[in-house]
Amino acid sequence: MADLRTTNPDPASPYPLDPADVTPAGPPRAGAGVGLAVPGRATGERGFVPPASLADFAGLARAALPAEVWDFVAGGSGTETTLAANRAALDRVAVLPRMLAGVDTPSTEAALPGGRFALPVAVAPMAYQKLLHPDGEVGLAAAARAAGVPYVASTLASTPVEDIAAVGGTVWFQLYWLRDRGMVADLVGRALAAGCAGLMVTVDVPVLGRRLRDVRNGFALPPHVAAANLPGGRDDLAHQGTPGVSAVAVHTGAVFAPALSWADLAWLRERTPVPLLVKGILDPRDAVRAAELGVDAVVVSNHGGRQLDGAPGSAAVLPEVVAAVGERCAVLLDSGVRGGTDVLRALALGAAGVLVGRPLLWALAAGGRAGAEAALALLAAELRDALILSGCADPAAARELRTLIGG
Ligand SMILES: Cc1cc2nc3c(=O)[nH]c(=O)nc-3n(C[C@H](O)[C@H](O)[C@H](O)COP(=O)(O)O)c2cc1C
Repeated sequence: MADLRTTNPDPASPYPLDPADVTPAGPPRAGAGVGLAVPGRATGERGFVPPASLADFAGLARAALPAEVWDFVAGGSGTETTLAANRAALDRVAVLPRMLAGVDTPSTEAALPGGRFALPVAVAPMAYQKLLHPDGEVGLAAAARAAGVPYVASTLASTPVEDIAAVGGTVWFQLYWLRDRGMVADLVGRALAAGCAGLMVTVDVPVLGRRLRDVRNGFALPPHVAAANLPGGRDDLAHQGTPGVSAVAVHTGAVFAPALSWADLAWLRERTPVPLLVKGILDPRDAVRAAELGVDAVVVSNHGGRQLDGAPGSAAVLPEVVAAVGERCAVLLDSGVRGGTDVLRALALGAAGVLVGRPLLWALAAGGRAGAEAALALLAAELRDALILSGCADPAAARELRTLIGG
């Protein structure tokens, strides 16, 4: 039997790839210089032939990953109604393009909390990136730096925040509220000392949503992946595979504090000298309250459909949140963003920018750091096309576009 490991486009990947699962990209373009028709194939030192779209990285990752890792990343909670609603809500947003705008080469630059960035995009905080590829968090953070966008390092990263921040570029730290407030203070102090330029507190995980794929798979972390920022944080629990139990849910149940409250957010605001973003807001009343507390941004998000199943698609509530918050703070969107058109939709609905989640993990799985770099370059190209097709000189202009919901 052939050694499939040698057929993986990325020799550094710990997982074999069956070439039969890879969809050819079509004939190579004349003069493209790559001479290869298989997307995801590494070419030379860090070269990578991307698939046709950001969303297409899913197929490459699915072919490269063990089924239970694919499920952990792709899955949502419960019946995955909210997971599906995220796409449905974005697809319902029709954008009215402007014509005769005289736009030649649009700029993709945009303001996000803390500065101007190359794109109105940040890499969403995502746990355990070494599950996807040995390059892990450092690989994805390096890709974010190359693309000129912020990288958000998760509390549950499989690489210490100090090592991620050392990559350079703009790194924000994502905070999960832990039962031990001393550990919270310690983590925030470590992130700031490491040079993190923003703090994003996630408020939609009092407990982990019931992710049935992980329960059915008895999903547990493999030995080479651990919560590197939480020494002494009951990491053993995340590694204990038990049929019918998600070890990751057991672990977070032991360390996360369910009763996070507005008083805790005020406590955090007082101690945070860098931009503070609150992730996981859906109700406009919560958005207003967070803004009044002085946060710099709210992220309208349902955690990619991984928390409350039955919550609305995040794009469906974005306009109401934008209207309620007004100029008090920035509003970002995540959950379901799969390409440049979705970024345009979010901007047209009034967002300052988006976080992109799973597609970047898929790109990491397909090609490590080079795959992630290719994915962000593709997203930039898709956004440039969307801007010029809608007659916008830049993302700020896109926020003036009209939309038709369900159009
Ligand atoms: C595998 C995985 C791990 C995640 N880990 C975290 C995390 O550690 N902290 C957090 O705030 N959100 C986490 N999220 C949610 C993302 O930040 C983001 O809200 C979501 O992925 C956006 O939806 P999308 O994947 O459809 O783009 C995770 C999502 C995935 C898919």
